[in-house]
Amino acid sequence: MKAAMSTILITQEQIRRRITDLGRQISSDYSGGTITVVGILKGSFVFLADLIRAISPEIPIEVDFMSVSSYGDATTTSGTVHIEKDLGISVNGKDVIIVEDIVDTGLTLLHVYNILSGRGARSLRVATLLEKPGNSKYDRPLDYVGFQIPNKFVVGFGLDYAQCYRNLPDIRVLDEI
Ligand code: IMP
Ligand code: MG
Repeated sequence: MKAAMSTILITQEQIRRRITDLGRQISSDYSGGTITVVGILKGSFVFLADLIRAISPEIPIEVDFMSVSSYGDATTTSGTVHIEKDLGISVNGKDVIIVEDIVDTGLTLLHVYNILSGRGARSLRVATLLEKPGNSKYDRPLDYVGFQIPNKFVVGFGLDYAQCYRNLPDIRVLDEI
């Protein structure tokens, strides 16, 4: 399947503008503070790279990544979670923003939230580039959402299909997979 056989859902320019807005909002919310940004691998890395550069340079930001996989029943929150790559930093007492590429079932996010909360984060907020409404088992508000999208499988800007297409500079719907 070629990337050309896909329809652009969100353009580069739309993404750029929205990330600028989110950066402004975060800069205002955390003015005078320090932010610990936790990116969920792999999908978040493109969004995260742009988002942190849209935040005021006056706010100190530390960045780390973690990778989790959940097993079992995707329709309940009881599945077990395996940490494939853990953080190298402590989040105890820190103001943390979890960065996701997309929240679909919300299970990945729920697991990461619970892990970081258990480790004593002082505050926890969530930034996600995309949200598919209606599916989420994550019942807290998503603090910073780039775009709500329809229930379609999308790729690009970090999101993959079979590990490919993460490099696309926009968000596309694969016509058929
Ligand atoms: P969750 O279902 O909210 O736990 O989402 C888990 C992960 O599934 C996301 O972080 C993405 O990596 C992946 N995912 C969910 N929907 C899509 C999609 O439409 N395209 C690409 N990856 C997706
Ligand atoms: Mg993926």
